[in-house]
Amino acid sequence: QGLHSLFVASGKLFFGTATDTNNINDVPYQAIATNQSEFGMIVPENSQKWEVVQPTLRQFVYNNSDVVASRAKANRQLFRCHTLTWHSQLPQFISTTSWTRATLTAAIQAHIANVVGHFKGQCYSWDVVNEALADNGTFRNDVFLQTLGTDYLGISFTAAAAADPDSKLYYNDFNLETIKAKADGAVAIVKILQSANVRIDGVGFQAHFNVGQTPNKTSLVATMERFTSLGLDVTLSELDIAHTKLPATPSALEQQSRDYVSAVDACLAVPKCLGITVWQFTDKYSWIPSTFPGKGDACLFTANYTKKPAYFAVSNLL
Ligand code: XIL
Repeated sequence: QGLHSLFVASGKLFFGTATDTNNINDVPYQAIATNQSEFGMIVPENSQKWEVVQPTLRQFVYNNSDVVASRAKANRQLFRCHTLTWHSQLPQFISTTSWTRATLTAAIQAHIANVVGHFKGQCYSWDVVNEALADNGTFRNDVFLQTLGTDYLGISFTAAAAADPDSKLYYNDFNLETIKAKADGAVAIVKILQSANVRIDGVGFQAHFNVGQTPNKTSLVATMERFTSLGLDVTLSELDIAHTKLPATPSALEQQSRDYVSAVDACLAVPKCLGITVWQFTDKYSWIPSTFPGKGDACLFTANYTKKPAYFAVSNLL
């Protein structure tokens, strides 16, 4: 039994992975990525981002994201959708336009109406706003905040709800698990939306961790419960646990196993933690080494698709 089957048997909704079209011709990769028992949910790692789906103003391109969506359907996997309002991977026209409150509001609304509308009925959830916070818990000083203040939060969630009433709407961020001030900021975001009667269904904890520095189960559970007590679902949305020293020693691989177990065990302990997504399952395609030079081997499978000790540790836990 694969991880998704085992996780579902433990009462959860999904164990999934990020994937995209760059690995479409990799046969051993696809054998695992399309195995519904292993991964019951997929999310496009890049192809639904603003720069990809609306590279120039009012020109929408869905070639790659449609491929990922149809793979999910063909393999009977849930499809998680990622992401709408985010400071990163924006098209050039966002930075070359001088926005006013009215024009940026209209641009966000048009983007979300088009993209969420395009995938209507297909997305289990949408990461509506991604990474709105700096690590100190204040709002990230991006074009959205500069032009609209925190109103862009409500504008984004309202537009997403209108375009697909059945998709779950998430706020998604990293380091909420380890920095209390940042979790405070995310609680504030939830309250801003809830007090304006704007629907938010969940918070995604990206869970990009390092080996030996992963928060323990108790602390992860406590952080997740801050959000479930506000009536929300939570997920671990981009789990990976990077070695900070390479190559990894056998004892570091054992530590990585314990860290994966802490994360998965925390989700098991919180009834409203609905699922876990790993941010790629093989070291071959992990984003970590190119983004954080010197770090890596963060995934459950090696670059040759053998299962690592962490895979077996998670499987044994379930
Ligand atoms: C990353 C992708 O994995 C990379 O391929 C890309 O170059 C940059 O973005 N938080 C997110 C994800 O929400 O979208 C990011 O994905 C990783 C951090």
